[in-house]
Amino acid sequence: MRIDIISVVPELLKSPFDSSILKRAIEGGLVEVHIHNLRDYAVDNYKSIDDYQFGGGAGMVMMAEPIDKCVEQLKSERDYDEIIYMTPDGEPFNQNTANQLSLFKNIIILCGHYKGVDQRVRDHIVTKEISIGDYVLSGGELAAAVVCDAVIRLIPGVLGNETSALTDSFQDGLLAPPIYTRPRSYKGWDVPELLFSGNFHAIEAWRETEAIARTKARRPDLWEEDEA
Ligand code: ADE
Repeated sequence: MRIDIISVVPELLKSPFDSSILKRAIEGGLVEVHIHNLRDYAVDNYKSIDDYQFGGGAGMVMMAEPIDKCVEQLKSERDYDEIIYMTPDGEPFNQNTANQLSLFKNIIILCGHYKGVDQRVRDHIVTKEISIGDYVLSGGELAAAVVCDAVIRLIPGVLGNETSALTDSFQDGLLAPPIYTRPRSYKGWDVPELLFSGNFHAIEAWRETEAIARTKARRPDLWEEDEA
């Protein structure tokens, strides 16, 4: 998979890809992440990428032309499955979307800044708009990093244990059940006895029951969706 990220603050996107699982995925050739500085596509001598809003109003707007030039350059080199714009008024990001994106070969992620992009970019260039939650970030970069992390860990071979992404919260529409490790007892806080029974059927049944109870208690919306 190849991900091209377009940003006006590319420095913000350095560290998420420079450690742990994402770094290993890149080094292992399982994913390519290319970060493009939108200013390199500016069309004037001042390297402007934003301008005042037509009709008046506070805040700058990212201009269509530099974005179009950058996207056209990338599209001339390969086909893209999706051109995604990160924006708080996009469709809410969830595990389902992460699963779908992880199947693609090439995607572009455009990070918004200031007041956002000229509407014509959204109408004519972007194919999908994603929000990572109902709050406003200073720019789309951290949101893009969240999406990339959720997507990249689903690419086969990225996680050491192939099954571990499958048992993540949300993968089966449920939150994950409780997990424990050594020691068996700490400060009198005991691990449930059943986990030492060696009865894998019973353990699986217990995990399912716990996952359902947790989902009903914490995310009744997910539970109702699952039942529908
Ligand atoms: N840009 C600013 N806020 C955002 C959000 N919540 N999701 C995606 N992109 C954003």
